[in-house]
Amino acid sequence: MSNSLIIKDKIDNFNKKIFISGDKSLSIRWVLFASLADGASKARNLLKSEDILATIKAINKLGIKTNFNKNICTVFGKGIDGYKYKKNLTINAENSGTLGRLILGLLVNASNKIKIVGDKSLSKRDFKRVSDPLSNFGAKFRLNKNKYLPLTINGSPMLKPFRYFENRGSAQCKSAVIFAAMRTNGTTFITAKKSRNHTELLCKHLKLPVKVRSKKNYDLIEVKKVKKIRTLNYKIPSDISSSAFFIVLTALSKNSKLVIKNVNINPSRTGIITILKKMGVNIQLKNKKNYKGELLADISITSTKRLKPINCPPKLNSGAIDEFLIIFLVAAKASGVSYFKDIGELNQKESPRLKWGAKILNKMGIKTITTDSSIKIFGDPNLKINKKIVIKDYLKDHRVFMTSVIAASVFGGTWNIHDKDSIKTSFPTFLDILNDLKK
Ligand code: S3P
Repeated sequence: MSNSLIIKDKIDNFNKKIFISGDKSLSIRWVLFASLADGASKARNLLKSEDILATIKAINKLGIKTNFNKNICTVFGKGIDGYKYKKNLTINAENSGTLGRLILGLLVNASNKIKIVGDKSLSKRDFKRVSDPLSNFGAKFRLNKNKYLPLTINGSPMLKPFRYFENRGSAQCKSAVIFAAMRTNGTTFITAKKSRNHTELLCKHLKLPVKVRSKKNYDLIEVKKVKKIRTLNYKIPSDISSSAFFIVLTALSKNSKLVIKNVNINPSRTGIITILKKMGVNIQLKNKKNYKGELLADISITSTKRLKPINCPPKLNSGAIDEFLIIFLVAAKASGVSYFKDIGELNQKESPRLKWGAKILNKMGIKTITTDSSIKIFGDPNLKINKKIVIKDYLKDHRVFMTSVIAASVFGGTWNIHDKDSIKTSFPTFLDILNDLKK
């Protein structure tokens, strides 16, 4: 079967209520926490995607049994020290940076050498950013070319705490260090640039000895050794990063309205909402509620005729880090020049996304000026595409694929978008939901 998708038709008129699959960050974290709990934990609406299945396979390799039946996943945790570190163990993180990096934090006490491998895309991503801080606890690493996968980790029975400054705003690095600190005697002090805080919120909900003090730009986090984790039954809320594609589709389509139910609107993830509101998009959050420390809401969007350009304040970057590609499409239709700066981290994702963002826009006929860490987008409110566009040869990156599909669906033209399978990593039902909007 062909792994590319041809799109020739626009989608410009719908009025629907949809459900999006479970949040990826929370799904991976739930599996990892449940694997350390004392007994069986159950999750409903866990994201059924390759990244999560890779996480489940990883804990299976560490001796933790699981059962994924219909919509319920059960993880049979064996306690905080329940992992079995067999000889010659290899864990395949596949395409998932979150799995590959977070699990290293839990392996800092591994009594045998463990090898971590990943797919072609993950093997081009920086793992030194996480092996460096974890080495300070006493774990030993060997990385390909000192930076990449495959790597081996050799844990230490005598972990020691240290002071960690996380300056990138990487939730993956921060979370890996929190996990390692949970295994370490004494107190680990972390000063972290603001980034998504699901790990900290789960720690709080589980009443673990993790204290967070929020400052203006940083969080001060203190972590003490964890002796026991209770089981955690959880219903994973919908993913705002997956919702983002449908938010933008609705905003840019001619005459549509969409409600997305029960989405996680954790304030560390809602950069896209703030940015789109500043650009004039008609978007509202309704039925807000708290679920085990996370904030949820229904998101309601209507088509927006006049879009304003934005000079995006960098303080919004971390909360929108996975959404910039799709936000760039809104900038492409705004009446003026938008500017996004300090977003060099985008080139550290599944593919170099800042470069791919510019590439997609240029193929659409939109002028851009890019540097290693910024992009200026010269919007055209009358943008209509009448030509053939091919998107191919990017590293397996679900967000490049989905952004291209949305661009094709709102701006027209005939698009041939390669690597359809990339959506299986994060959002396998993406095309089904899109097709349902046409009915
Ligand atoms: C994630 C953190 C972010 C994000 C990724 C998921 C997480 O990466 O881009 O998709 O679940 O912790 P960084 O921590 O590298 O910024």
